[in-house]
Amino acid sequence: MRYRDAKIYVAGHTGLIGSSILRNLKERGFRNLVTKSHVELDLCNQADVRAFFRQDKPEIVFMCAGRVGGIIENRDHPAEFMAQNLAMAFHTIEASQHYGAKKYFFFGSSCMYPRQCPQPMVEEALLTGKPEATSLSYAVAKLAGVSMCLAFNEQYGDCSFIPVIPNNAYGPRDNFDLTSSHVLAALVRKIHEAKKSKSPKVVLWGTGKPRREFVFVDDIADACLFLLERQLANDILPINIGVGEDLSIAELAAKVAQGVGYSGEIEFDSSKPDGAPRKLLDASRLHRLGWQQKVSLQQGLKITYDWYVNEGEKHSG
Ligand SMILES: NC(=O)c1ccc[n+]([C@@H]2O[C@H](COP(=O)([O-])OP(=O)(O)OC[C@H]3O[C@@H](n4cnc5c(N)ncnc54)[C@H](OP(=O)(O)O)[C@@H]3O)[C@@H](O)[C@H]2O)c1
Repeated sequence: MRYRDAKIYVAGHTGLIGSSILRNLKERGFRNLVTKSHVELDLCNQADVRAFFRQDKPEIVFMCAGRVGGIIENRDHPAEFMAQNLAMAFHTIEASQHYGAKKYFFFGSSCMYPRQCPQPMVEEALLTGKPEATSLSYAVAKLAGVSMCLAFNEQYGDCSFIPVIPNNAYGPRDNFDLTSSHVLAALVRKIHEAKKSKSPKVVLWGTGKPRREFVFVDDIADACLFLLERQLANDILPINIGVGEDLSIAELAAKVAQGVGYSGEIEFDSSKPDGAPRKLLDASRLHRLGWQQKVSLQQGLKITYDWYVNEGEKHSG
């Protein structure tokens, strides 16, 4: 396996994607792993980021740190989402280049695609239209990060910077806080709580009509480790990470209710925002390279719900 002995830095290793990448690296025998918590190293501080890279000189970087949140968090904190995500991306890309990292993975988002993008969304559609308004700042910062990766590859003549675009991630260690979580974690928590309190109905945000694609977090980690092994050219970057199927939020809620064992009524509050009508990625670039997802939505939901009940519930505010 390439890079088995390389020094690998997983930024944001306490988060949903970072914790999965770290666990997958350990399980596959990578031993030279470096992590720093947010408190130990604030990636918004350029001097501290440079000092860390100067001293530790990571050869591989998985940039899983970010300011992330659901629709309301994004709407209410656009300045923070823009400034922090831009700063973290710039500081880590610049330091990776300066201190000679061989590979750097950057995580873009399906929010970067135009709101009215033809579906499924191909990578070439990026920057062809305006992203959804509720997450515009986040999307623009992410577009800048992806563009910076491509610009560095172009100017420095190699392909060290690998921007990937996973669709909605879910799994163990997701954020189940109702004010800042993403849709799937919020549904799991609300429906679980409705079951526990024997409530005859549960009210969910939006119309239930938007369609979304969900990728189990270990499949995202698996796709990144698959790409780590490959020599990639700038013309196939960035790369979508998707499973090729979406479903409506109402359909997702029904699946979650079935998994949780909740038989009450599911009602939608259409006064709450929906976000983009549909976000399905075209992942044929990645699939043509030979990668396939391993975990179905049904399996992933069960793993996520079991983790929430056994671990997550006691930590959720
Ligand atoms: N979740 C998704 O559906 C999804 C989809 C596509 C792309 N992405 C991208 O993938 C990346 C990881 O997402 P995620 O869902 O795993 O996020 P997450 O669970 O919220 O984790 C984010 C991580 O970043 C750390 N962090 C935040 N600000 C930091 C700072 N200034 N300095 C150092 N560390 C900082 C957090 O530490 P603390 O918790 O201690 O602050 C946490 O470890 C993000 O860039 C996100 O935009 C996520």
